[in-house]
Amino acid sequence: HGALGDGTALSGKTVVITAGPTREPIDPVRYISNHSSGKMGYALAAAARQSGARVVLISGPVTLAPPAGVEVRHVMTAEDMLREASGAVDEGCDLFIATAAVADYRPETCAGDKIKKSSEALSLPLVRNPDTLATIAGRADAPFTVGFAAETSNVARYATDKLQRKKLNMIVANDVSAPGLGFNSENNAVTVFWPGGQESIGPDTKTSIARRLIAMIAERL
Ligand code: CTP
Ligand code: CA
Repeated sequence: HGALGDGTALSGKTVVITAGPTREPIDPVRYISNHSSGKMGYALAAAARQSGARVVLISGPVTLAPPAGVEVRHVMTAEDMLREASGAVDEGCDLFIATAAVADYRPETCAGDKIKKSSEALSLPLVRNPDTLATIAGRADAPFTVGFAAETSNVARYATDKLQRKKLNMIVANDVSAPGLGFNSENNAVTVFWPGGQESIGPDTKTSIARRLIAMIAERL
């Protein structure tokens, strides 16, 4: 029953959400990635669906089951994520939420064959990846955009910088240095910033935080 939607706060709206890590290939068997579990993004997708939205979830590699009633599109790299997210927004989107932990850099080239070890040290040239959130927020037809900021210090300052620099409607900041919260955890505590205000949520389960976030966003959409 819940999967079909209990709420109507987002009925008639299309929500596009990015989630999980990206993987940037080094050679056919190796990659650069991070510890993102995708839990916050999947919880937001479920909460948005339960509020009556059509939800498209652009997901990097995670071990989570797709939330009921949510359309999942799988991606691997940051470049894939930008392409799929842009395509989903082109199809029509009222709300874009970026929870993905996108690799900021990728290896300049992916070796065709598995790299053999030889010298005592190895350097890999890395190049910057495209920023999906900034690209979507910068569109002339930008939907309401919400970013996440995982920080280990100066959380409020870095988060409000990102809010302004990326021209977001809202940013959800979490301190990933807090023990037992954030990356890979069931629980989280966040502070939400928008131009002119802020509100702290939790510590609570990611499911509860997701529901509160969707309610806050729906009030402002
Ligand atoms: N983001 C994105 N594409 C990227 C990098 C980040 O869409 N290539 C999004 C994330 O999903 C998140 C927000 O931007 O919603 C902030 O990500 P974060 O890594 O905290 O910020 P960066 O701009 O990458 O800055 P830095 O890592 O230097 O703090
Ligand atoms: Ca980053």
